[in-house]
Amino acid sequence: MTQDELKRKVAEAAIPYVKGVGIIGIGTGSTTRHFIELLGDFKADIEGAVSSSEASSELLRKIGIPVLDLNAVGTLEVYVDGADEINPNKQLIKGGGAALTREKIIAAASDKFICIADGSKCVDVLGAFPLPIEVIPMARSYVAREIVKLGGQPVWRENCVTDNHNHIIDVHNLNILEPTKLEAIINNITGVVCVGLFSARPADVVLVSRGEEIVTF
Ligand code: 5RP
Repeated sequence: MTQDELKRKVAEAAIPYVKGVGIIGIGTGSTTRHFIELLGDFKADIEGAVSSSEASSELLRKIGIPVLDLNAVGTLEVYVDGADEINPNKQLIKGGGAALTREKIIAAASDKFICIADGSKCVDVLGAFPLPIEVIPMARSYVAREIVKLGGQPVWRENCVTDNHNHIIDVHNLNILEPTKLEAIINNITGVVCVGLFSARPADVVLVSRGEEIVTF
């Protein structure tokens, strides 16, 4: 199976988790894109979706699912999204698609976060995937210097402006043994909007496609 076929397969496995749910939280990325396409088959049952990016919102509208404002809907029952790395504790690195801040907001506002990914995303220790940080543009160099003090190698994701009009720094060379501690430290740097470590609020259920098999943990 290709990686794209594995993404489609795991997206299919998430569908039972949203059957009967009126308003669904929706993430961003190629795996989530498959999931959104599959939602089209029963869109009449779906009241709407809260989306983590302009890209996902556009696709949702295209297939006929209304995009709702999180402020208007309150707590969400279920949020479905992908990840860049997943450890055995369901802690994640996210933000490869630059949507980490809205993703983290929706995860925080949801009762159940279902993470969907192909098997290549599973790791023992987070950090091989460069850790994305969304920063206020004028703070970019300052934040980068603070990251160097923490032992990371920051790289500005040039030509990337987030949906919130901010910049992204990708941090290389991290071996993240204490994700919750590092998440708090980075979030505390002035100028950081959000770090793509989902540790204090990890996923609740992880679905992973490995060949024909779907592993759930
Ligand atoms: C976007 C994300 C995505 O969930 C993550 O990058 C995984 O993407 P894909 O499903 O394309 O592998 O965090 O900000």
